[in-house]
Amino acid sequence: MANVTFSSKHTLPKDVTVYAVAGDRGTILSLAEKNKIPIPFECRDGECGSCLIEVVTLTGKTMGSALTEKEKSMLKSLGKITTAEIDNAVTNDVMPKYRLACQTIVRDQDILVKFAGDEPGGS
Ligand code: FES
Repeated sequence: MANVTFSSKHTLPKDVTVYAVAGDRGTILSLAEKNKIPIPFECRDGECGSCLIEVVTLTGKTMGSALTEKEKSMLKSLGKITTAEIDNAVTNDVMPKYRLACQTIVRDQDILVKFAGDEPGGS
C-alpha cells in the first residue's frame, strides 16, 4: 500500500492524499499529474531541477536507494543532497530529504511530498 500526501502551502488549499495501487507505481510526478496536483516540471528527465520535492517517509519502512546518477548530480548541483546522504541512500536504503518528482518511483510506503509550487527552488 502506498498513500502519497501532497502538500504545498503556496499551491494547494489543503493537503491531498492519494492512494497508489500496485499497477500505478510510476513516478511521483505522473501520480501527481493523474490527480491534478500541480507540481512544477519542465524536462521530465532529471535535467532541469524544477520538480524538486521534499519527501518525508510516514511509515516506518524507508526506501530510497533508487537514485539515478542523473538525479544525484542534479540534486548536488542544487545543493539539496550531500555525499553522506547519497551514501546512506545507496548503502542503507534511506530516502534523502530532497528528490526530483520526475525521477522518484512510488514505492510501497506512505510518504508526504512537499513542493513549492509558485516559488521555484525549494519547498
Ligand atoms: Fe526536470 Fe524533473 S522535470 S528534473
